[in-house]
Order: sequence, then C-alpha cells, then structure tokens
Amino acid sequence: METLQAALANAHGLWRYVVLITAGLAIGKSLIGWLERREWQVVDERIAVYFIMAVDIGVTLGVLVWLLETRWNGTDVLRSWRHPATMLVAAGAVHVGWIRAKAAPTATGRFARCTLFFAIAGVIILAGVLQIQGTF
Ligand code: HEM
Repeated sequence: METLQAALANAHGLWRYVVLITAGLAIGKSLIGWLERREWQVVDERIAVYFIMAVDIGVTLGVLVWLLETRWNGTDVLRSWRHPATMLVAAGAVHVGWIRAKAAPTATGRFARCTLFFAIAGVIILAGVLQIQGTF
C-alpha cells in the first residue's frame, strides 16, 4: 500500500507537465482559430479533448492520492483542502467551457468560448501548481 501510494503521488506530481503542455496547446490553438476566424477541424476537437482528458486524469490521480493519504485527517491545509479545491474549480471551468463551446452556433463562437474557459482554467491550474510546489 505504501509503495502504491508513493507511486501514485509521484505519477500525480509528474502529470502536471502533461496538463500544462496540453493546456498551452489547447489555449493557443483556440486563440488562433478565434482570431483568424478559422473553420473548426478535427485537430481542434482532438487538442481540446486531450486537454480535458489530461485534467481529468490529473484529478483522478489526485483524488486517489488524497484518499490513500487520508488527507481529511491531515493538518496540511494546502495539500488537504486548498490544492484539491483549486484544481476541482479548474476542472469545473474546463468542463463548463467545453459544454458551452459545443453549444456555440458558429466555429468562431466555439473557438472564443474554448479560449475563454480554457484560459481561466489554465491560469487556475498554473497558480495551483506553483502554489503546491512552493513557488509562492
Ligand atoms: C489537474 C489537476 C491537478 C494537478 C495538475 C495537480 C498537481 C499537483 C502537483 C504538481 C503536486 C505536487 C507534487 C510534488 O510535491 O512533487 C500535487 C500534490 C498533491 N495533489 Fe494535486 N494536482 C491536481 C489535482 C488534485 C486533486 C483534484 C486532488 C485531490 C482531490 C489533489 C491532491 C493532491 C495531494 C493530496 C497532493 C500531495 C501529494 C503528496 O503527498 O506528495 N490534486 N498535485
């Protein structure tokens, strides 16, 4: 159990890079699509879905680590509550954004909604990562 816990915590920590890279790609691609009024293409769909999946996998690993470490008993407020809450808000923004984007009547509207919601989520995720790694 100890080893599984350590392995999951390690994987969860390393997964931050996948989340941050896919966030950058998804935000950049939707911003370009929005500004240049491009058609919505399969590649746009894929990049957005990869970002959403990366966030969901990060959240799943985080929840597993949180449960295995019985964090609700912990005294470390950052790791027990603030970090999980921050990341769940970001995951919420990603999913609401995707639902809103899918409902947009035009490709430009879809790019605009993706840019807005993914950027909000990206900033929250970046702040959450910098905070938990002790940068600020
Ligand atoms: C995509 C969302 C998330 C990202 C990118 C992320 C990222 C990170 C990072 C970078 C660390 C520090 C790892 C280290 O010290 O090396 C960490 C630790 C931690 N995260 Fe997350 N996290 C996310 C979501 C969550 C969620 C939703 C929970 C709980 C519900 C959670 C629970 C934890 C816990 C308990 C730790 C401390 C683990 C330890 O004891 O080392 N995380 N997270």
